[in-house]
Amino acid sequence: MKMRVYELAENLKIPAKELILFLKKEGIKVKNHMSALDKDTIELIGEIVASDRKKKQGKNGKATKVIQINKMLSLKELSLQIKVPLLEMMQKVIKYDKITSVDKEIPMHILETLVGEYDYTVEYNEKLKERKSHLEKQKRVNLVTKSPVVTIIGHVDHGKTTLLDAIRKTNVTQKEEGGITQKIGAYQVEINHKKIVFVDTPGHEAFTTMRARGVKATDIAVLVVAADDGVMPQTIEAINHAKAADVPVIVAINKIDKPNANTEKVKKELSNYELVSEEWGGDTLMVEVSALQKKGIKDLLEAIVLQAEMMELKANPNIPAKGIIIETRLDKKSGIVGSLLIQEGQLKVGNYFVSGLSQGKVRSLIDDKGKSIKEAGPSTPVEINGFSSMPNAGDIFQVVPDEKFAKIIIGERENEARLKSDQMKTTVSLDNLFMEMKEGKLDQLKIILKTDSHGSLDALKETIKKLMIGNEAINEVVEIEIIHSGVGNVTETDVMLASASNAIIIGFNILPDANTRRFAKSEKVEIRLYKIIYDLIDELEASLTGFLKPKIEEVVTGQAEVRELFKIPKIGTIGGSYVINGKISKSDDVRVIRDGKLIYEGKVSSLKRFKEDVKEVNTGFECGIGVEKFNDIKLKDILEFFTLKEVE
Ligand code: GTP
Ligand code: MG
Repeated sequence: MKMRVYELAENLKIPAKELILFLKKEGIKVKNHMSALDKDTIELIGEIVASDRKKKQGKNGKATKVIQINKMLSLKELSLQIKVPLLEMMQKVIKYDKITSVDKEIPMHILETLVGEYDYTVEYNEKLKERKSHLEKQKRVNLVTKSPVVTIIGHVDHGKTTLLDAIRKTNVTQKEEGGITQKIGAYQVEINHKKIVFVDTPGHEAFTTMRARGVKATDIAVLVVAADDGVMPQTIEAINHAKAADVPVIVAINKIDKPNANTEKVKKELSNYELVSEEWGGDTLMVEVSALQKKGIKDLLEAIVLQAEMMELKANPNIPAKGIIIETRLDKKSGIVGSLLIQEGQLKVGNYFVSGLSQGKVRSLIDDKGKSIKEAGPSTPVEINGFSSMPNAGDIFQVVPDEKFAKIIIGERENEARLKSDQMKTTVSLDNLFMEMKEGKLDQLKIILKTDSHGSLDALKETIKKLMIGNEAINEVVEIEIIHSGVGNVTETDVMLASASNAIIIGFNILPDANTRRFAKSEKVEIRLYKIIYDLIDELEASLTGFLKPKIEEVVTGQAEVRELFKIPKIGTIGGSYVINGKISKSDDVRVIRDGKLIYEGKVSSLKRFKEDVKEVNTGFECGIGVEKFNDIKLKDILEFFTLKEVE
């Protein structure tokens, strides 16, 4: 019997990383979490870990209290017995497999984990002990093999979308139905009678946000690397994300049809990141494919099945269903519709559920072929409706016993969210910085710094450092720390990091897109944008010493897209534009945005409708726009109009 490192780690309930360190300490060589271990090693490690744990328990001497159980308790009874508020307990039980009503007895495994959180261990009487061992036997029988859930990751343009397409099409043509496949964010394919589930969202971002919520959405990652391009920055990023999530990687070396494809070079580069192919003595499965010519797709699917078999993925289909929301949309006919990936249990029409701040009753279940079904088990992507409000992608979906239970849980979550948002109101911003410092609430300013180039990044870091050293007044009261910096636009991940660490984001010569700005607003994260280093320094200094000028806030009034160009002698280029949102006006300032990048910012030189000068133009109308001192308007440029408003 062989076992992979991550499997043993799971058995021993320790993180794979820790186990690898531990193995190394014991002189056992392993490469990564996929390395195989033999029987003797497994037994040896098991013994060492067990005796280590005993020793630690003895040393810590943490007083573990014992709760004597002669009769199974309900949640209410338990809350009385160990003196913990009932609502707090309800919040805790929801994350376990099974949710019971507060008056029904708590299943043994939940009872044990639950009281464990309050440092109790359970001691059953003889009769209950027997019942427990019987239940455990049964539970083992209940576990069934579940299909792997796969996410495709990799560098831009290496062929993720094409590969997903190829897999879907190859699979569809194999089946007679072939017809409508509904877009529900994930789909199942079948190879040699085994199923694989592919999550549509390529890239690692989806899976990072989910991980940030503590959900493991993916079992296996397929890393696409183009054979003509090799390992690129986002390839490395993807590898790191997969590693951090402890998800095994299968490599699809793509574009092998290209004349300059060099698969050996790719393998060599990958070996620097602990991904070593089996033929080179490693244990990473690598498959050569051409997504474009649909070559090697079957081999890739077989590799996934093989990997899944090694992982022995199991789930219990006989418990109330639990899953993850992967997509949501508003349907004209059926209202709020959510796609979800079931992870455990059996979801049935009529089930009550909670998901994020939403609750409801499953009104219908639709599978990835668009077919209406009555129930669905682990690793099945389905679309359901019946939500009370829109859940978020990445939210956990959990079946509960009845409507009452759902309402209590949601009520409690809403309270918590409200509390959190009240606390969030005191998130740092440059304007409240001085007050916060004066009140002693803040002694550290955390900054996330994003710039357009390495040059400006270095310069800014240097300047901020000087500001800290050179200014004693500042130094005494506050410590400045750049917790993350990089070249490139502000992303939602940056906002998440800022929100989690109470930092502000400073952007230099960049312009975050509308989604990121909206997200920052909802997370109450301040993004300050600058084009001149001295402005940044001035403001930082002013806010740190309490001399901030009245805040000027920018309001975006509208956006127009350039759809035609008119070159007018002596005047310059006029953008024949269409107002896509808001209302633009001649007196506003305007910025030119191209491919999401800020190109120019200035004044409007002319605004015309059919040769007539006008003051304003509304959404849905065409107009001609000239930008003062800027002659380089191009097709598809976005002209964003804004004004500056002074706020209290
Ligand atoms: P992003 O979504 O932008 O990150 O890119 P992606 O990884 O999804 O890449 P996409 O599938 O869009 O492919 C990028 C380009 O590579 C397209 O022009 C594809 O036609 C091409 N391409 C993808 N797979 C192959 C392949 O196997 N061979 C060749 N020759 N071209 C391919
Ligand atoms: Mg793509």
